[in-house]
Formats: sequence, structure tokens, C-alpha cells
Amino acid sequence: MIDEIEQCRDAALAAVRGADSVDVLEQALGEHLGKRGPLASLKARLGTLATVDEKKAMGQRLNEAMAAVGAAADERRMALAAGERAQLLESERMDLTEHQREPRRGHAHLVTEAWERLEDVFVGLGFKIAEGPEIETDWYNFEALNMPPSHPARSMWDTLFVDHGAPGSTVLRTHTSPVQARVMTTQEPPIYVVAPGRVFRNETADATHMPVFHQIEGLVVDRGISFADLAGTIEAFTRAFFGPGFTSRLRPSFFPFTEPSAEFDIRRPDGSWLELGGCGMVHPNVLAACGIDPEEWSGFAFGFGIDRMAKEYHGVDDLREMYSNDIRFIEQF
Ligand code: PHE
Repeated sequence: MIDEIEQCRDAALAAVRGADSVDVLEQALGEHLGKRGPLASLKARLGTLATVDEKKAMGQRLNEAMAAVGAAADERRMALAAGERAQLLESERMDLTEHQREPRRGHAHLVTEAWERLEDVFVGLGFKIAEGPEIETDWYNFEALNMPPSHPARSMWDTLFVDHGAPGSTVLRTHTSPVQARVMTTQEPPIYVVAPGRVFRNETADATHMPVFHQIEGLVVDRGISFADLAGTIEAFTRAFFGPGFTSRLRPSFFPFTEPSAEFDIRRPDGSWLELGGCGMVHPNVLAACGIDPEEWSGFAFGFGIDRMAKEYHGVDDLREMYSNDIRFIEQF
């Protein structure tokens, strides 16, 4: 019987050690150590042995054989599992340096693209580009724009203040309109400028708002400028930017720095409207605050969101997507 036990044990050990996957291993174990396996049937024969000592001795050998097979199986199982895990890792591996030999071509951010196209359109219409600082004084952001301290219209912009100078004297510009004042205080009319730039508001991000976004400001100051010039400029820009199927309309509105003021909407080819920005005739108080004689000169101004235009132009549903840096989103454009 000893020989039989050893034969069964060696056969089981060979099967276990030779298993090339965890599945094959478990199957071999079932066959060799299971209830209908050879070792089990030897165990059943213990009862037929003559003496108690013989039964004890054979029982012990059988237990040792089974323990040896169990230990070999544990060892093999660990080795196989480690190998299978390594294989899985290898197959799911993402090597971020792999594409280096053939780099994929990227493109500018959608807002940067819109910004540059807007500049091209307005330069084509005869405008120059102007710029101003993102950290602005209260005077340029509000006061020069006909909003003295504590003017109620200041609450139209949820302002972020910068801890610099006297409390409340320094802000993150809430719109690009302070660039109007910067241009008018440093340049003689006639003035034809657009000023694209980053602006900031204390707002929670949602599908159509971001706390940091971009506007483009337009300012014209010349002799005999009328509201018709404003409407015509907005219409010309709308068609140049979006295409001939689009038109614009003006709706009466209020801004402290323009009078009269309007909001302008873009009509899509399907007949729906998109609110884009504000505009109006530069208020005489603004011209005067910037050292320009309102009796001699008149002008118009407009301002609108670049991010919203890019969103509209590309049919994106949520502004936040444009800032997620998700390659699957970016690659669509
Ligand atoms: N600055 C205004 C805004 O951000 C828009 C505007 C610009 C309105 C110029 C009139 C003239 O809401």
C-alpha cells in the first residue's frame, strides 16, 4: 500500500506542478484529491487493514501525501496568479511615451481659436487691437465708466477684489470695458479698437457661466458716429464670424456707460436666438471722464463673451467641457 500511496502522490504532484493556468490547476486538484480521486479510494481501504497500528501508519502516510500535494498546489497557484496578473497589467499598459516617435498633432484651445478669428474679423473691418491689465483699479473698472463709488449698478458684476492698496480699490476686472477708458485716456480720436481679454466674476461655474472667462470689447470714437454705425458693425461681424445664414438684433437694455444701451442677440439659421452681449453709444460722462469732448466726438461700444461664441460655434453643450482638458473631448475638434 505504501507504494500505491507514493505513486498516487507523485502523479498528483506532477499534475499540480505541470498545470499552466489556475483553472487547469484547480481541475487537477479536484481529480487527484477529490472524493472520487485515487487518494480518497486508498483512504477508503484503510478500514480493510488488519491491525490498528497498520491503519495508523497508513493513515499518517496518506495524510502526509495529501498535505504534500496541497502545499505544492498552493505554491503553484501563487506563481500562476502572479504570472496572470503580470500578463493583465502588460495588456492594459498605457505607455505615455509610446507615441513619441510620431507625435499627434494638437490644436489651439477652442477659446484661443475663437479669440484669434475675432481679431482677424475686426482687423478686417479696420479695427486695431488694444489691451489692458487683468488686475484693474476701481477707477477704470467702474468709476470712469459712470459708476461712482456705491453706485447701485456696480452690483451688475459680482466683483472679486484684490487685497492691494486701500480696501476695495483693486479688482480683478469684471469686464473688458475698463480697456475703453485706458484707450480713451491715452489715444486721440478717431479711435477704432477691439480689446479681447480674460475677465473674472465671483460666480459658480455651470453650463453657461465660468468664474474666469473671456470677452472682446469694441470701441469706436469719431465725429458723427451714430447708433446705425453700431448696428451695422454688429451685423457685419455676425455674418463674418458665423456665416451668411446668421443675423443679429438689438434689444433695449441698460448699462451705466452707454446711452442708449442695448443687448444684442444672434439669430441662428434655425430661427433660434443666442444672447451674446451688450452695447450702446458711449455715455457723454464716460467721454468727459476720459478727457474727450462729448460735444465734438461720439462713439459706440460693445462687449461680449468669447467662450460663449466658441461654445456656440462648435455646438458644445457645457462651457465647463472646454476647460476639462479631456483628450476625448478635445480630439473632436
Ligand atoms: N461690459 C458689459 C458687460 O460685461 C458689456 C458692454 C460693453 C455693454 C460695452 C455696453 C458696452 O456686461
